[in-house]
Amino acid sequence: MSALLEVTELRLSYGPVQALRGASLTARAGEVIGIVGESGCGKSTLASALIGLPAPGATLSGELRIRGEDMITTTEARRRELRGDRVAMIFQDPMSAFNPVLTLGQQLVDFQHRANVSRAEKLARARAMLASVGIPDPELVLRRYMHELSGGMRQRAAIAAALMMQPDLLIADEPTTALDVTMEAQIIHLFRELRQQYQGSIVIVTHHLGVVGELCDRVYVMYAGEVVEEGTTDEIYHNARHPYARALIACDPAHIQGPVARLPTIPGRLPDLTAPPAGCAFASRCPQAAPGCAHPVPRVRLSESHAVLCHQVTP
Ligand SMILES: Nc1ncnc2c1ncn2[C@@H]1O[C@H](COP(=O)(O)OP(=O)(O)OP(=O)(O)O)[C@@H](O)[C@H]1O
Ligand SMILES: [Mg+2]
Repeated sequence: MSALLEVTELRLSYGPVQALRGASLTARAGEVIGIVGESGCGKSTLASALIGLPAPGATLSGELRIRGEDMITTTEARRRELRGDRVAMIFQDPMSAFNPVLTLGQQLVDFQHRANVSRAEKLARARAMLASVGIPDPELVLRRYMHELSGGMRQRAAIAAALMMQPDLLIADEPTTALDVTMEAQIIHLFRELRQQYQGSIVIVTHHLGVVGELCDRVYVMYAGEVVEEGTTDEIYHNARHPYARALIACDPAHIQGPVARLPTIPGRLPDLTAPPAGCAFASRCPQAAPGCAHPVPRVRLSESHAVLCHQVTP
């Protein structure tokens, strides 16, 4: 089966800042993909490119195909069409998807502007969608403004809004980061239910590995604008090979046994993305770095699904 989403060697720069440096990924229909990595590694940049909305002034190259159609070389008008039809995004801040002066009901109706049905039918669909994302009193919530809803309800409403568009591809950028632990667990549960019925692909961007373990089939680990390791969730959790991916997992609270005074972090910081190194971008922080790491890094394939960008890994 061909991939629903195919990203090849995607590059994106904000002026001199090379935020994406040749990232490639695929997602098949029905798959849930996780994108992980520490702050600043390019996750949101990738998400914004996937939805065809890079920041103004950003330069983009490479290939980004959704059901075979290239989002980069197409016209802005067609991109806008694809955005409504095929791709929808759930943002970290659910308020950003909504207009504060319209009720949720008005907006959920507007989001269906392409559907050729009556307003009453659109409202009925909106009500059903709110119920399906676990909003207890949809009739009442349709008449509410966003600021009148709790954080968890807002995130549910944002998920409902994205699903109203019946996208093939659903992108969620840090969908649980703004929530407390209880709400987070509820939203994870909602995504789990969603994936039972949803036919499209879901891409979840997060720096929370727990979310990935609970939801994703496959994971892409990003570092300094590159995918440094990809594999099934199992391969990444239990057999990560890139020193950065291993460090990320070692720092995950769920992997730490017993009480600790302070959570471990990865020492050092991301390289300057205006002048990234020609070789491995993690070398300056890597416990296994060797002189050879200054050379361009080979992509080592370990299984059909597992690949890693590292000089020190042998198949
Ligand atoms: N609109 C922008 N203009 C200029 N630079 C930007 C812009 N957006 C992001 N960047 C830079 O691009 C790099 C990648 O940022 P991005 O927001 O994609 O990271 P991230 O992985 O989503 O981080 P976080 O986990 O903090 O959300 C960073 O160096 C960031 O400062
Ligand atoms: Mg981000």
